This record gives sequence, structure tokens and C-alpha cells, in this order.
Amino acid sequence: MKYSVIGRDGLRVSKIALGTWSFGSVRAWGESRLEDLKKVVDYALDNGVNFIDTAEGYGSSEEILGELLKGYEREDIVLATKVGGKRFDYETVKARLLKSLERLQMDYVDLYQIHWPKMKHLWHGEDMTEKDYLDIYDSMFRLKEEGLIRYGGLSNFRLHHLKMFPDEAFKVLVTNQVPYSLVWRFYEVEGVADFCRARGMLFLAYSPLAQGLLTGRFKPGGKPLYPTQKANILFNEPVFSRAWRVVEEVIRVAEELDVKPAQVALRWVLEQDIVASAIVGTRSVEHLRENIEAVELNIPRRYLDMLNKVSLEFQSTLPLGLEMWIGNNRPEVLEKIGIKK
Ligand SMILES: NC(=O)c1ccc[n+]([C@@H]2O[C@H](COP(=O)([O-])OP(=O)(O)OC[C@H]3O[C@@H](n4cnc5c(N)ncnc54)[C@H](OP(=O)(O)O)[C@@H]3O)[C@@H](O)[C@H]2O)c1
Repeated sequence: MKYSVIGRDGLRVSKIALGTWSFGSVRAWGESRLEDLKKVVDYALDNGVNFIDTAEGYGSSEEILGELLKGYEREDIVLATKVGGKRFDYETVKARLLKSLERLQMDYVDLYQIHWPKMKHLWHGEDMTEKDYLDIYDSMFRLKEEGLIRYGGLSNFRLHHLKMFPDEAFKVLVTNQVPYSLVWRFYEVEGVADFCRARGMLFLAYSPLAQGLLTGRFKPGGKPLYPTQKANILFNEPVFSRAWRVVEEVIRVAEELDVKPAQVALRWVLEQDIVASAIVGTRSVEHLRENIEAVELNIPRRYLDMLNKVSLEFQSTLPLGLEMWIGNNRPEVLEKIGIKK
């Protein structure tokens, strides 16, 4: 395993983080078996993965982790969780954090992230106000002072959001967790990566396999397995067929290098200097093993350049500012937001 350092006094996080949305969110990912999850957590921690990502919004994920992490030394784990909702004032955020800590059976979290900025066109039904940004800064700063969190982080924050924070806020807000993969590069091409880099913030790349699309498991004409994939714009036409051209290249490179497509896709993400860690979701020890191996994979530059090219070509077919889950993927809705057949 290799590690990155986030934050000024150095939180050392593994390049592959274990994403646990699927551990607890039956609505998005179907049922899990606790014994499988235990094997995955044990394998991760025994093989150098020290970074685990969860959220208060991931069903019973926090409770499950609370149970499965018992017996491990707290200092050996870097635990990231997230707060949702529409209010970011200190009292509200602290009350929610204390509930997360109770479920996790811990007395601090290493990285506490604001899960989503409020956006009027999404489920929040309202946009962020100036007060919200000051509240986030104030809450994170005070929770850090109190020792309840080691660092604060953001998630899904775009450039116009980030620009609203005072500069001092980036002393406590050290990461932006964003969707980032060969088929989702908005946060790079829209300038978020440059903004973060200039302020010492790093990306935590979520859905680095595009929820499984980049593994090559979902062929044209096949069906996505889980509700969250069905809701993902990438798994819906006409976007799927265009994204599939990128997947075909990933499969071709994997065949030439005699590795798995998922490993090629992950290695590409880890090549990007803005990425501290790729947060991969898995309930399979075998897949986790492959993902960990991807850290050491050496992909010749010519393949990386070619993947970069097809990836950017695909990206340019999508309208800027798009979210991966827009709530409704009917063709007429997609057409309205600029995705033509
Ligand atoms: N901040 C946010 O808003 C946000 C949003 C989404 C996700 N996240 C975080 O990011 C994590 C990962 O994202 P994600 O789960 O959406 O997407 P992902 O990691 O890109 O993909 C997960 C899917 O890939 C499969 N998979 C994993 N490794 C594989 C391998 N080596 N070969 C074949 N299939 C493989 C998994 O199935 P198996 O279980 O069968 O391996 C699962 O179906 C989440 O758990 C969560 O922690 C954050």
C-alpha cells in the first residue's frame, strides 16, 4: 500500500480507501451479509487500507462499522464520515456528529465532511446562503478545537461554492470528496482541482469505478444490478453507449497488460496528483484485493495518454455542471439539460 498525507499536521491515508455506502444502504445497494462485510473490513485493515469512508446518510453503515471495528486500535484507523441536511450551524452539526460518534462507538472522527452543498435543482430544493458557508467554517473550526474531529472536509462542492469560503477556512477544510473517474471529470475540467490545489486541499475520488461501469461488468444491453446504478446517468442511454467507448479502451488496455479493467481504471485515478485517495466501494474480498493491487500497477505512459484522450472526448459530450444522479433520466429530461440523442 502507498499513502498520502492530508491536512497540515499530517493525516496519513491509504491510496485506496474503503467506501461503505453499500454496507448499510439497502435502498441504494440491496442487502448485505454482515459476515461478508466483516471479511472485507478485516482484509482491508490487514492489508494496509487504513482509510474508511462512511456517512450518516448511508443507512446502517455507521452502526455496522462501529461493530466491525471493535478490537482494532483507534489510531490505526482513519475514519471519515459525513453530515447531511440543510443546516450547518455549530449546534446542529455538533448534535449530528455526536449521533454519528455514538453509532460508530468512537469519541472522534478523523475527517468530518459536509456531504452536499445545498442545490435548488436537487433534492435540497434551496441553494446555499452566505451564512451557510460561515456556519460550515465555524462548526468545523470549533469541533476541531474540541477534539471531536481532526479535520473538516467538503464533498460535492463546485467552484462557485468553494469561492464563497474565507481563505482561513481551508486551514480546517482539507479535502473535497468528489466523483472522479475516467468517465466523470467535471471537477477537474471546471477548475475545482486547480482551486483546491492552490489552497492545499486534495480530492478524495469517490465512485472511481463509476459505480462498477468501468469494471466492464455491465455490457451494452445488460442491466444495472442496483437502484443507485439505475439512477446514475452513466447507466442510462444515450450516455451509456458513449461512456462504453471509454470502457472498451479500459478493457483493451487491461487485456494488453494482463490485469483487470477495474485495476486500470483505479490506477488512472491514482495517477492524478490532486487525488489523495480513491474511495472504492466493495463487499467482496476478491475485488478489494484487486483494488489494493492496483496501487502498485505500472501502466506505460502511452496507455495513460490514450485513456486520457478518450476520457476527455467523452466528457466533452456532457453539459458542464452535471450531477451523476439527477433524479430522472427520461430522454426528454436529458434533452432539456443538453444531452441530445
Ligand atoms: N460523497 C458522496 O456524495 C459520495 C457519493 C457516492 C459514493 N461515495 C463514497 O465512495 C464510495 C465508492 O463509490 P461507489 O460505491 O458509488 O462506486 P465505485 O466504488 O466506483 O463502485 C462500486 C461498485 O464497483 C464494484 N467493484 C468494486 N471493486 C471491483 C472490482 N475490483 N471488480 C469488479 N467490481 C468491483 C462493487 O461491487 P462489489 O461489491 O461486488 O465489489 C460496486 O458494485 C462509496 O462507498 C462512498 O463511501 C460518496
